[in-house]
Amino acid sequence: MLISGDNLAALSALTRRTRGSVMLAYLDPPFFTGRQHDRVERSRDPESGRVVRTSTPAFDDRWDGLDDYLTELRDRVALVRELLAPEGCVVIHVDPKTSHYIKVLCDEVFGPRAFASEIVWRYRRWPAKTPNFQRVHDVLLRYVRDPDVRPKFRQLYEPLAASTLATWGSRKQRAVLDETGRRLRSSTTEEDTPGAPLGDVWEIGIVAPISRERTGYPTQKPEALIERLVQVCTDPDDLVLDPYAGSGTTLAVCHRLERRAIGIDESPEAIRVARQRLEQLGQAPLEERVELAAPRAGRARTLPLAPGPRTRLAG
Ligand SMILES: C[S@@+](CC[C@H](N)C(=O)[O-])C[C@H]1O[C@@H](n2cnc3c(N)ncnc32)[C@H](O)[C@@H]1O
Repeated sequence: MLISGDNLAALSALTRRTRGSVMLAYLDPPFFTGRQHDRVERSRDPESGRVVRTSTPAFDDRWDGLDDYLTELRDRVALVRELLAPEGCVVIHVDPKTSHYIKVLCDEVFGPRAFASEIVWRYRRWPAKTPNFQRVHDVLLRYVRDPDVRPKFRQLYEPLAASTLATWGSRKQRAVLDETGRRLRSSTTEEDTPGAPLGDVWEIGIVAPISRERTGYPTQKPEALIERLVQVCTDPDDLVLDPYAGSGTTLAVCHRLERRAIGIDESPEAIRVARQRLEQLGQAPLEERVELAAPRAGRARTLPLAPGPRTRLAG
């Protein structure tokens, strides 16, 4: 399902309908960049043969200040918590400029015991000219709904380190413990190892300019990243929620992995792109629209964005 409109209104409507039933909520809010983001599409002009770039406003990430940004996010995170199933979890995708504030915010909303992981998504991209270390990671904060309930979690594995393979080969290792349960040494079994249990640093490529999944929507996240979260935190048929749906990456992944999903976005361009993406997968989404009773305070700009595209020749 695709809901267009402000996610605060949509989430409060959902708390009346589906409270306690979301297994995974993935939130990828604007990153406090202070910019407006456009969708850029490239096509070839049939007459001149030149590449034409068309920009359409997608979403606005300008704020009156960090307080406004965090207050708005906090209200939404609190509503998302109400929607989670007891064994469900939320993953909030942010960057290192704000992740420390958002972790404190989530500690307040969920309680510090509900903190489960800080996942570092490490990617490669064109280097920036900066007298600093290249910024090549985002931060994904995972909180469980209830620290006293075992969360849904399917263990995935990654390849063993070369040094481990050299020492132990590809057989499963077993810890040899003393009578107090302290690990004395390792030994190997006859079984093949599935690899090392997946850690919290994930190296996954960004959506490349020539990638088939690229929609041109700004800040689009790779399907492989969301796929991992969905595989670990849900089973087929479980309900996944994405209140900042953008180009519909979460919905597309959930369709492929046979999970039910609800996406929300206030940008007409996002809804258009997500709808088209799902239709291309053979799944026309159910659609709803919600309205906020009163305009949001604390935003530097007015909504909705004018959707008119601007076209210019590239190069
Ligand atoms: C970083 S993008 C999400 C990108 C998405 N994960 C993808 O892969 O395409 C953030 C999205 O949140 C939407 N958004 C921001 N504030 C919102 C709000 N209050 N209600 C609904 N959508 C909002 C923006 O329109 C934008 O599409």
